[in-house]
Amino acid sequence: MIYSRIIGTGRYLPEQVLTNADLERMVDTTDEWIRSRSGIERRHIAVEGEGTTDLCEKAARAALDAAGIAPEELDLIVVGTTTPDQVFPNTGVLLQARLGIHGCPAFSLEAACTGFIYALAVADKFIQSGSARTALVVGAETISRMVDWTDRATAVLFGDGAGAVVLRADSAPGVVSTHLHADGQYKDLLYFPTGVGTGMRPVGGDNAIQMKGNEVFKVAVNTLGRIVDETLAANGLEKKDIDWLIPHQANIRIIQATARKLELPMERVVLTVQETGNTSAASVPMALDVAVRDGRINSGDLLLLEAFGGGFTWGSALVRW
Ligand code: UT7
Repeated sequence: MIYSRIIGTGRYLPEQVLTNADLERMVDTTDEWIRSRSGIERRHIAVEGEGTTDLCEKAARAALDAAGIAPEELDLIVVGTTTPDQVFPNTGVLLQARLGIHGCPAFSLEAACTGFIYALAVADKFIQSGSARTALVVGAETISRMVDWTDRATAVLFGDGAGAVVLRADSAPGVVSTHLHADGQYKDLLYFPTGVGTGMRPVGGDNAIQMKGNEVFKVAVNTLGRIVDETLAANGLEKKDIDWLIPHQANIRIIQATARKLELPMERVVLTVQETGNTSAASVPMALDVAVRDGRINSGDLLLLEAFGGGFTWGSALVRW
């Protein structure tokens, strides 16, 4: 049996920081409201001319360095992003060109905030089937470009960034299992309204991220609770077997609810939402990289990665470190 194992992680946050105090000057909000409702204190925003591919490249190179892998050794690139720089070539191909390599399959997929978990699951299946041996998996967003910066309901929540992992074929897991879901009946609760097919328009007003935050919140808490159960049951595990929760960083209250469901103390949850806001597909790999690099995660630890986003889409990955 072939498994995939994460052998390197990396992340990149744009240098420009937007604090809650900055937002108080832009919209009718307060630092207190943002912190207490979401846990967010600041977020990083790509500057003009800085695109999703730029963020991907920096996170990818950090992951390749950590893995001790040359780009030429990659035989698959999968990027989860909802904010590609171009409709085509896809972001995976643009990243491949930046890395100076040729020929391996490279593609991006859209699953909103679940983009990295979807990308990881796809790459894992390529490796399990023997179709790839060394894969680069990235979650990256310049989601700030989809926000109406005069709409306080969404402007305070989002930020940009990228996270990456290198996966390699191994005789032991690694990625123990992945679980993906989607339900389009919820498409009107969280969406960006236009694309090429419906005519591109400048972002702002009704052509920006639209979210019924409170309804999304309730479905997210219930759904993530269920995927915790599904992941444990699929592997015959109990809650106490999980060492670390690496959740999508949308709202600290959603994360706390998932931790309660797992009966996991918050010390065992990797939290970055205060620093990054909601970076959509980038949030899980960035949080993983933070915890790997600060030494919290040790060999043999069992990690539960999960995410929930527009669609709705949701998913999890159980990873033995
Ligand atoms: O990543 C993909 C999935 N996304 C999520 O998981 C996000 C899920 N939702 C959330 O995180 C939360 O619902 C929010 C953080 C977006 C909002 O928190 P909430 O506790 O659900 O607040 P709410 O939407 O019920 O709004 C409460 C009040 C409203 O005023 P009234 O009607 O009670 O007078 C809003 O108008 O807060 C008001 N409000 C604000 N006030 C100050 C909304 N945005 C702001 C703001 N500053 N930025």
